[in-house]
Amino acid sequence: MLVAITREVSPSISQCELTHIPRQEINVEVARSQHLQYENVLRDLGCQVRRLSVEPNLPDSVFIEDTAIVLNELAIIARSGVASRREETRSVAEVLRGYRTIFQLTSPGTLDGGDVLQIGRTLFVGNTSRTNESGIKQLIDFISPYEYKVEKVQVEGCLHLKSAVTLVGEETLLINRSWVDTRSLRAKEYIDIDPSEPYAANALLVGSELVYPTIFPKTLRRLKDRDISVRVVDVSELQKAEGAVTCCSLIFEEKWPDNSKQIT
Ligand code: GLY
Repeated sequence: MLVAITREVSPSISQCELTHIPRQEINVEVARSQHLQYENVLRDLGCQVRRLSVEPNLPDSVFIEDTAIVLNELAIIARSGVASRREETRSVAEVLRGYRTIFQLTSPGTLDGGDVLQIGRTLFVGNTSRTNESGIKQLIDFISPYEYKVEKVQVEGCLHLKSAVTLVGEETLLINRSWVDTRSLRAKEYIDIDPSEPYAANALLVGSELVYPTIFPKTLRRLKDRDISVRVVDVSELQKAEGAVTCCSLIFEEKWPDNSKQIT
């Protein structure tokens, strides 16, 4: 069974962090309604959705992906490159403790979950304004005993690695090549976004189905032309907060046979 941890949209979302897009008015009710639709799609795809309580004073807290990296054997609680987002991890850590052995990133390390793209036992990690060398080093120390590898990826012009590239099939990446250095990525197949839709590379793969925003029709056509099965969701109000579809959940297998095993 897949678990999807989500969090209700904060009433203060209009005060969210913005790095690469201009501030626009955000309608909280519309954002909440879109978020509910998103959760419903996850349920349809077989996820057990666990929604955490609203955090009125944490504007970006709906973007729960950034708070942790959940692997089959362990979970790492992240530490954002922006101070305003660091409190978000507290409640997430409490919940994840019920599923995984927890490791905690500490100062001076910073890392956002949105910078971590897992392909098999390799974690590609974006070097961005949110993720620094110390954060990447700590991640390597936590996961190496479990036989995962880390590959650093240079990212320019967008918030997170997963703004620029996401997995849309077992070995297929959806990519905006103008934001990411592809030399360190190793995929069998690439699908380029339509150049008129620079933010279109963020897609959420759940099993063999892709959750994808409605507002990128040209890139959506490219995905469908490759016979990828897509569930579209309107997350346009959340996108005004520089969010996307991967950011709004933490999805993982509920039980993993080895998750009681402690490596010291
Ligand atoms: N507003 C999303 C972020 O900056 O983390």
